Amino acid sequence: MTSPQKLKDAATEFNTSSQYPVPKGWKGPVWKIKNDYPQPFSASAASGYEGLPLPDTSVEAPWMKIDFMKNPLEYALMVKEYCWDGNRSVDFVVQDNTVRQWYHAPWMHASANGREPLKGLTFERSIPAGEFASGQRSALQNWAIGFYNAPGASVFGGVWENPSLPVWNDNLKFPPGTVVFKLLLTTAKDEEVPTMKGSPAWRAVICPQPDPAHAPSNGAIRDDHDSPVRLIQVDWATVDERSPIGWVFGTFMYDSTLENITDPWDRLTSVGVMWGNDPQLDQAAVDAGEKPVQSWINPRAEELRKMLGGMRPSWGYNGRLNGPADNFISACSSCHGTAQSYDAPLVQSGQLVKNKWVPLNEKLTMTWFENVKAGETFSVRGALSADYSLQFTIGWTNYKTWWNTYDAQQKEKKTGSNKTTLLALPTRRVVFRRRDGAAEAEEKRMEKLLEQISVEDVPKRAGPTFTWEF
Ligand code: HEC
Repeated sequence: MTSPQKLKDAATEFNTSSQYPVPKGWKGPVWKIKNDYPQPFSASAASGYEGLPLPDTSVEAPWMKIDFMKNPLEYALMVKEYCWDGNRSVDFVVQDNTVRQWYHAPWMHASANGREPLKGLTFERSIPAGEFASGQRSALQNWAIGFYNAPGASVFGGVWENPSLPVWNDNLKFPPGTVVFKLLLTTAKDEEVPTMKGSPAWRAVICPQPDPAHAPSNGAIRDDHDSPVRLIQVDWATVDERSPIGWVFGTFMYDSTLENITDPWDRLTSVGVMWGNDPQLDQAAVDAGEKPVQSWINPRAEELRKMLGGMRPSWGYNGRLNGPADNFISACSSCHGTAQSYDAPLVQSGQLVKNKWVPLNEKLTMTWFENVKAGETFSVRGALSADYSLQFTIGWTNYKTWWNTYDAQQKEKKTGSNKTTLLALPTRRVVFRRRDGAAEAEEKRMEKLLEQISVEDVPKRAGPTFTWEF
């Protein structure tokens, strides 16, 4: 029997927007999660959906009339328009959108990388010094927030019908009409990354970075004050059954050269669109001059990449699509294809040798670039598919970790120890006050403790495993 208190606490966690405190003296708005998800939609096309009728995609999703292989840019611009519609004018506070409903993914507050309090941003892969631009001497922290439209959020509604006791017992499949997008904001300065000039800023509580050349490896330690972060990338994904993987991915980058566009949130250049991983494109094929055919890279984005002169040899792995904040050894759909209930590293293994990527094993590498179909699993038989949703995967992992370590956390609350609490990162409501000299000893002590466990360890010890690798 689960204790009533545990169920109550689970519901409280579900409705928690951020576990990190609002900085002292902050007078602006704080972020609130929107999680009154719709119940699953019904669709003759997507089996297993009962409930509300699906939206008419010919009206609601006009990009479905566009052939994304022939006119990827047109498709991308229409999706972006839809994502901005009613959201841009309210600064992406989706609760205020009067055009249509958008939602946030559940349980993304509950980890070391979890949502900060002012804009709901999560800690993302950082860009190593020199990767994006030749003058980029700092490593860049990136912070992001994703939004699901109603068909997409209906999948969360199905799993979290009961906020205390979510049920995930079948492969997920997002219905047609699903659109997801994600805003990425960075600490890049104009002097180091010239394409960032004029980029719009949000205030957020990010991580201290005493050595500018090195970003923290996870988001566990937060500032006690707010800082600006600026728009660098806008990712989107749509369910589209014409795609071999059932999804189409695309991304935009902020582009200062579009200075005639007055709204800085519209100064976006499409980096590209992808609808598959080009499974045939192994190293031998690349060496023989073959190019991806399931990624379209915008020639203008190629010019920008070269102009910036960073170390990345392409946007994504061997010419596939990825964005400025992403690792060039992977690609949008190869990484998202790993979304499942357990044990799936996000990217291939290998190492950089003189700025050139050397895979550990070419055959193994190519397993990431198989075309996993929507609703199927990446690797482990018996795992459940999260249908390309990594926010679902992370939220679920956070929930499971919290659930499985609940008793230990309660005990430690009484004893004052925090070893398990550190593992169960959701309850680690610790903020380090870098500006407060008296807190330094405590900070050192916590850093030591953190060294003993990496974020990667957490899911291995409790709940389904999920490896944080970018
Ligand atoms: C190496 C892994 C990786 C790569 C490459 C990657 N992503 Fe993601 N993406 C993630 C993770 C992890 C999340 C969830 C965490 C978050 O949003 O903070 C995510 C979240 C998203 C979301 C929100 C919905 C969801 O699925 O969770 C969208 C949309 C998205 N990414 C699109 C893209 C696009 C477009 C690209 C390529 C330009 C891309 N991603 C490349 C790892 C990756």
